[in-house]
Amino acid sequence: MTISNERLLKYLNRSPTPYHAVANALSRLKSSGYLRLDEDAEWGAISRGKYFVTRNDSSLVAFALSGKPESGGFRIVGAHTDSPCLKVKPNAISESQGYARLALEVYGGALLAPWFDRDLGLAGRVTYVDRAGHIQSNLVNFDRAIGFIPSLAIHLDREANEQRSINKQNDLPALLCRCDKKAPDFSALLKRQLKQQSGINDVKQILGFELSLYDLQPAALVGLNEEFIASARLDNLLSCHAAIEALIATRGSHNPVVVLNDHEEVGSASTSGAEGPLLQDTLGRICGSDENLKRALSHSMLVSADNAHGVHPNYGDKHEPEHKPLMNAGPVIKINHNQRYATNSETEGIFRQICASNKLPVQTIVVRSDMGCGSTIGPITATRLGVRTVDVGVPQLGMHSVRELAGAADHDTLTKALKGFFKFSPWPF
Ligand code: CO
Repeated sequence: MTISNERLLKYLNRSPTPYHAVANALSRLKSSGYLRLDEDAEWGAISRGKYFVTRNDSSLVAFALSGKPESGGFRIVGAHTDSPCLKVKPNAISESQGYARLALEVYGGALLAPWFDRDLGLAGRVTYVDRAGHIQSNLVNFDRAIGFIPSLAIHLDREANEQRSINKQNDLPALLCRCDKKAPDFSALLKRQLKQQSGINDVKQILGFELSLYDLQPAALVGLNEEFIASARLDNLLSCHAAIEALIATRGSHNPVVVLNDHEEVGSASTSGAEGPLLQDTLGRICGSDENLKRALSHSMLVSADNAHGVHPNYGDKHEPEHKPLMNAGPVIKINHNQRYATNSETEGIFRQICASNKLPVQTIVVRSDMGCGSTIGPITATRLGVRTVDVGVPQLGMHSVRELAGAADHDTLTKALKGFFKFSPWPF
């Protein structure tokens, strides 16, 4: 396995939620010399160097400032930290038939069938008040199979293979344990975990949480020649990882920026989503004035990296016949003239040229004319900032399943393309 895939698999396994994805990206950035900028501090004129900013612990902007942005612009790579999943409802425990169950809300456009019959861990952020009266938040990760959503046996539903549908309210609660007398106290469970995992023993009361179940099966290379990666959250932690690796490897004078946003899977409208002001605020403060920001953006470009649909060998007719991306054949440029993707001929041209000059394969996708098209942070960020944008992504299968499939070579290719973007010299703007 390549070193970069080894790192990717570790990142996938250690990042069951956007909070963990950001925390793990931060530790990589910090060990490469990146310094934290606090949003509530006065930044003043920022000197050359490497910095990062976070918001809501689930989004980040990292950048290496090496020249005046108003004359050189920014080269920005964007990706999203969230993936569709099952999140725990506030009153978490319900009893049924002598069992305690975890009540779950579906986050984003999850494929639900793959969640059944899996060993499920639980992770996310917990907010509590401590004994001194301070409100604190901390990450937790029950890194063991505490939940399970059992299928109904085929003997009790003979039509299961032909017609089983999934009711999100009735069919998804996850089995936690037997409860003969008293259901488990979820707050007590969280308190115990905070103590065991982080040594926090002054929790007075749990005030809130954002927790999701996740599949415990680790990411793996699969296929006859181990040419595929199977994992949860490939959409879009693969792109997050490639972006951070490319940033860290980049030296030079082109003001590279990486933005990782939460909440893409639910439309991006939040303080930390791409429709929120995080990136604009950060770039504005780097530039110092609105005039300088506008000048900088006019020289800038965004590569929005989010996985694309590769052609599925069992469902070839779901793709436009002349646009069928294959795994391990390079990143895909996404085109939709109705602006579901923000690519235009100039940004496409630049990305193609970068791939050509680095001897990297590249593919193109456009959806069938009789099918709807997905979207991503590219058009949202382009609309918000007025920054020219190309939407790209590695091809994958099983998007939004609890276990997705991507090409093992494509993470390296994407990382190289993003490095090429950060360094690209014949800048036309
Ligand atoms: Co995505």
